[in-house]
Amino acid sequence: MRKGIIAIVLGAAAVLAGCKAGGDYQGLEYAPNMYHSVAYEPLSQITDESAGTIVNSLDNGRGEYFNSNKYNPYAMNLREPAPNTVKRDPRGWLPYRGKRIAKDSIPAYTAKLSNPLRKDTAQVAAYLEQGKVLYVSQCQHCHGKTGAAESKIAQNYALGVANLKAENYLGITEGHIFHVITFGAGNMLPHGSQVSPDDRWKIAMYVKQLQSK
Ligand code: HEC
Repeated sequence: MRKGIIAIVLGAAAVLAGCKAGGDYQGLEYAPNMYHSVAYEPLSQITDESAGTIVNSLDNGRGEYFNSNKYNPYAMNLREPAPNTVKRDPRGWLPYRGKRIAKDSIPAYTAKLSNPLRKDTAQVAAYLEQGKVLYVSQCQHCHGKTGAAESKIAQNYALGVANLKAENYLGITEGHIFHVITFGAGNMLPHGSQVSPDDRWKIAMYVKQLQSK
């Protein structure tokens, strides 16, 4: 009799505990498989047809977790974009499709490349501040604090680090700087893989500010 009462009390406690659902807590669930579908892994599929047969409720003889679609390439759930699809960012911008070229050709090559962030006039001051932080972390160790190649690297190694305050560099455009960060120039290697396009434009703005001082 006592055991019966304890069982009822425990059962009631469990049911009541389940009522406390809210926020991130879904409450106590009986057979959660009934409410939550098995999540798809984007980069892989479950190809074993018997995976999960033990909980199978399907009639096709395959396991509950089998989710392979042989038409998807590389046995993954994610579909590949159609060939020649070009990714745009949320603003609709296309990627910069340039290439690494001889440094003498960069001015003509980038003549029409203008900084899209300049259109956002209210933000320019903030972009310059961010550009400074990025310059310090990505460029200063070679080009120096003022851009005049006063860094230890420039002085101790015969890399030929450009003095961005020298007469022949004062006229370079933000597009030119963006290109150089993306693909490099001469002895300078590309930085496109580690600096996002937006950040490259911010750095370009900051370099122009450094040059004007
Ligand atoms: C590892 C050292 C190093 C780093 C880091 C570096 N540069 Fe350079 N940069 C160079 C060297 C060396 C040259 C000269 C290349 C040459 O003329 O052969 C150069 C050249 C340049 C030029 C002139 C290119 C031209 O048109 O002739 C610009 C502009 C420039 N760098 C900008 C930057 C910016 C902006 C960054 C930061 C994102 C940066 N660099 C990071 C070494 C570096």
